[in-house]
Amino acid sequence: MSEEGKKNIILIGFMGSGKTSVGTRLSKEWGYHFIDTDQMIETEYGASISTIFEKEGEEKFREMETALLKRLSDTVTKTIIATGGGLPLRKENTVLLKKIGKIFYLKTNRETTLTRLSEDTTRPLLNQTDKEERIDTLLEERIPKYEAVADEIILADHQSFYEIIQKIEQLYKK
Ligand code: S3P
Repeated sequence: MSEEGKKNIILIGFMGSGKTSVGTRLSKEWGYHFIDTDQMIETEYGASISTIFEKEGEEKFREMETALLKRLSDTVTKTIIATGGGLPLRKENTVLLKKIGKIFYLKTNRETTLTRLSEDTTRPLLNQTDKEERIDTLLEERIPKYEAVADEIILADHQSFYEIIQKIEQLYKK
């Protein structure tokens, strides 16, 4: 990883793990830029993630994620990047993420995930009747992948945003 790359922080994790909330706060504290990949794609496309999935399909959305990462890998410094929950699953993306910065996995367990997402309607992958089963399947598939790509894993279930930020600070300096 280049010295420039090291100055960026990347937050990965399942939907509802707190990537955007933690990233926003951390960027303010450090005076860093903040990028949320979902928000950036929504702004550039001019519609919500749900609409993009509906109109273009998931595969096209995944291509948008990779295209965005490619651009970011050439440009960002001193930036905290919150990624969409599916972004670190593509091999191509993991290579780009490693190049961009230090990767922190905000790991949340099943209970936290179910509680936080039970009322959510903004995640197209969970818009189905048996949401719980879908979450179980996705968690099982994804946890090993998040762990494999992460430089650091932070257990984020019972910690405040402040505590998570402190943990990131400690690990970043390591
Ligand atoms: C997705 C997670 C979402 C968003 C899209 C797909 C996923 O982002 O990118 O709905 O595949 O896990 P958040 O993790 O920010 O909810």
